[in-house]
Amino acid sequence: MTVRELFAVVRRRLQRKYPDHQARWWAALLIEERLGLPRGAHLLMPQRAVTAEDVAAVRKDAAAVAAGRPLQQVLGWWEFRGLRLKVTADVLIPRPETEWLVEGVLQMVGADFSGRVWDVGTGSGCIAVAVKTARPSAAVYGFEVSAPALAVARENAALHGAAVRWVAGDFLDAAVWSAVPGPEVLISNPPYLAADDVVAPSVRDYEPSVALFPGADVLVFYRALAEVARQRRPAVVGLEVNPRFRENVQQLFSGYRPVMPAGVIESPYLLFLEREVA
Ligand SMILES: C[S@@+](CC[C@H](N)C(=O)[O-])C[C@H]1O[C@@H](n2cnc3c(N)ncnc32)[C@H](O)[C@@H]1O
Repeated sequence: MTVRELFAVVRRRLQRKYPDHQARWWAALLIEERLGLPRGAHLLMPQRAVTAEDVAAVRKDAAAVAAGRPLQQVLGWWEFRGLRLKVTADVLIPRPETEWLVEGVLQMVGADFSGRVWDVGTGSGCIAVAVKTARPSAAVYGFEVSAPALAVARENAALHGAAVRWVAGDFLDAAVWSAVPGPEVLISNPPYLAADDVVAPSVRDYEPSVALFPGADVLVFYRALAEVARQRRPAVVGLEVNPRFRENVQQLFSGYRPVMPAGVIESPYLLFLEREVA
């Protein structure tokens, strides 16, 4: 079988579940990944022969994706702000809106920022690694309760030479953060789904529930983050939020006003706050 033929087979398989533009893109990614080929291989080297073993492996990957498993978990990586990051079933798949969260905070602190940043619920480490990469003089702390997620975050930081300081433990227990030097920037994409939120099956069935659901009190992480803000008075707070509870989250941060950093898309999922008084 040639690359072009395999591409056609995988595209057809994925078309059964996904729109064609997605099926084409994903078929190309699966083939390039498994065969170790450069981007656009199905166009650049369509006649290249593929071994039966590789055909079987790509077909297996395509079947997993067609069955609903996230592409990023099958590939084992995803890009976040141009950084290729390891992705496993133990971490939330980095999302585009989180790229904007990082962008907004970077805009707010400016190019020469060298203060402390806390990333609460670091998961794959996408936020912490991206911030440390963009602001190398900053002291970035990544907090995480899940040991397997933290292992992935560490790998991602090592991959990109980002010296992030990791804090393992339950952030809802103030003892975990009270000994850590306070941040100038508090950034978090915490678990924020309510039990009655509509969640796509590929998310509900494949991504870690500890990353998605905070439990009975949907604001519990924001309450903890607001307590950090009250005690440690960071100048900048950047949060990803459930649009249903955006107002409620904002109200928790007394002494902070919402701002819209320049050049950042306005999204109901993002909330940027700055401290009102010095
Ligand atoms: C929505 S995910 C965000 C992951 C990553 N920051 C991102 O934006 O892709 C929330 C993260 O918070 C972590 N988490 C959940 N409960 C926690 C807790 N009590 N203390 C610290 N981290 C927690 C989860 O394991 C998960 O990695």
